Amino acid sequence: MKIPKLLSSAPGPIGIFDSGYGGLTILEKIRTELPQYDFIYLGDNARTPYGTRSFDVVYRYTLECVTHLFEMGCQMVLLACNTASAKALRTIQQNDLPRLDPQRRVLGVIRPTVETVGNLTQTKHIGLLATNGTVQSNSYPLEIQKLYQDFIVTSEACPMWVPLIENNEHEATGADYFVRKNIEHLLTSDPLIDIVMLGCTHYPLLESKIKSFLPKNVGIVSQGDIVAQSLANYLQRHPDMEERCTKSATCHYLTTESVEKFSSAASLFLKEAVVAEHVDLG
Ligand code: DGL
Repeated sequence: MKIPKLLSSAPGPIGIFDSGYGGLTILEKIRTELPQYDFIYLGDNARTPYGTRSFDVVYRYTLECVTHLFEMGCQMVLLACNTASAKALRTIQQNDLPRLDPQRRVLGVIRPTVETVGNLTQTKHIGLLATNGTVQSNSYPLEIQKLYQDFIVTSEACPMWVPLIENNEHEATGADYFVRKNIEHLLTSDPLIDIVMLGCTHYPLLESKIKSFLPKNVGIVSQGDIVAQSLANYLQRHPDMEERCTKSATCHYLTTESVEKFSSAASLFLKEAVVAEHVDLG
């Protein structure tokens, strides 16, 4: 791993990281909630998906991306990726931040999402749709148990969904097969589920398909608004960090893959012209 550059304490943009395009669903909502701030989005598209990779690899890749965003001047980085939040967040917070810069912050998306489900279920039976990595980490059931001891969580790993989105095939009819299969399997495993959590930031891009295969009485929890609201609260509660975030309403995009590919896919997802820059990591 390369030696990190000397980090400056000057205010900087907020870093938003994902393994690929998924974090754009979070960034979009954050920019609506907090339009005055500057952002740098980093998509590790060259190494996506993270969901099928081991703990060590997800941790190493995530740390490389966070370090790069720190070097770009971000004082705070949001892991807009459930897999990275599940497998790398705690180690980075506990082991790496004290070494890199104890003043900086790295936040995840799982805890704020879990905090909202309490009011949304009548049956207390919750379904989780997520990557293999997030499901295997058991992070969602563990976090939910901390807040709601009597909730039952049933998880369904959907390993084909992220590749469909990364390859821009998620709106094709071929995607129906995989979406229907995972949803049917989840609801057969627990027919009492009345809330399904989209525990992967890519999945809102499949939301209309997901909805079409869910019975009407089953609601969907999508993370964008929840995470945006939670970040706004965080900045309010931490004025010291808020002062370390610059506010010129800009957004820059970095990708570890082809700039043309990222720019055209991101422009499509965000419905605005995106011009990305390439970055080499590792
Ligand atoms: N957006 C990531 C998440 O929220 C996708 C993970 C992947 O690359 O498989 O989990």
